[in-house]
Amino acid sequence: MTSTDQESWTRSDGDSWDIVSSVGYTALGVSAQRAVESERPDALIVDQFAKHFVLAAGEPHLIETITKRDAPQASPFEYLRGMGMRSRFFDEFFLDAAAAGIKQAVILAAGLDSRAHRLAWPAGVTVYELDQPQVLAFKDGVYAEQGAAPTCDRRAVAVDLRDDWPAALAEAGFDPGQPTAWSAEGLLPYLPATAQDLLFERIAELSAPGSRAAIEGPTGTLGMSQFAKVEQKYRSEKDTFGKIDITGLFYDEEKTPPIEWFSARGWNTEGLDMFDLADRYGVEHPEVPEDIRELAGAMHYLTCTLPA
Ligand SMILES: C[S@@+](CC[C@H](N)C(=O)[O-])C[C@H]1O[C@@H](n2cnc3c(N)ncnc32)[C@H](O)[C@@H]1O
Repeated sequence: MTSTDQESWTRSDGDSWDIVSSVGYTALGVSAQRAVESERPDALIVDQFAKHFVLAAGEPHLIETITKRDAPQASPFEYLRGMGMRSRFFDEFFLDAAAAGIKQAVILAAGLDSRAHRLAWPAGVTVYELDQPQVLAFKDGVYAEQGAAPTCDRRAVAVDLRDDWPAALAEAGFDPGQPTAWSAEGLLPYLPATAQDLLFERIAELSAPGSRAAIEGPTGTLGMSQFAKVEQKYRSEKDTFGKIDITGLFYDEEKTPPIEWFSARGWNTEGLDMFDLADRYGVEHPEVPEDIRELAGAMHYLTCTLPA
């Protein structure tokens, strides 16, 4: 494994990574956050694989994060339990779609998302997981070590989402004639504006009537550079991402807020922010500085539905 050396983490067209470098490390970091959430007595989700991913990757800061957690001293960001709420939101999205009879799910930028192994999918559901090859290879290695079996027909599709992923998805068996449940969770900041538009166009093209998409993306009220400024102001070494500035991996370009993009193309949309999710899941939010409140309100957890 490459060591966590942020110096070499500048972004470029066609860049690639493993699980402890560049954008791959963000997948490991959010897995650590899910491991921490899963241990809480009032956990919003239980991801039994999250800690195994972190332990297997062997990155010292994240191992410390999950084993010697000292939450009250982490930065105000982590008081918000954002990862627990975000994970619960996407879990419910997929289970609702499956309960409504949607038999295909596509997890774009799956990272260490373990839904294909931990959700109670109804019979007959196929889940496609798309991410870079080294990320998926690491994940499959941990599943093999754990003797873990998927709870659906899981198909890992190793591909870069800036490339021709629809071709790779078709090759894996995806049927554009059937409704699909799509997710883009923790992905959009890492794509250039043109790649984001292309991603949305491809989702729309491949979506039969009745398809749904759950997307985490900016509301448009706060630019990425403002987001980065607030993040940098409060970042603490005790945070999951510690000394690493993940905002350096973002593409800070003008992008169409996803709610606008999908609404304009005939999808019904519902956008919730962190505070809406907190109300929904009964999470009490501590007092946080105004700029953090603003930042937490600037991200949408969006459900888009293409009428049947
Ligand atoms: C913050 S992680 C989120 C992972 C997962 N969705 C989750 O919430 O746990 C970002 C993920 O996006 C993936 N990713 C970002 N850009 C990508 C690209 N161009 N092609 C494939 N995967 C990409 C990374 O490999 C990483 O797994």
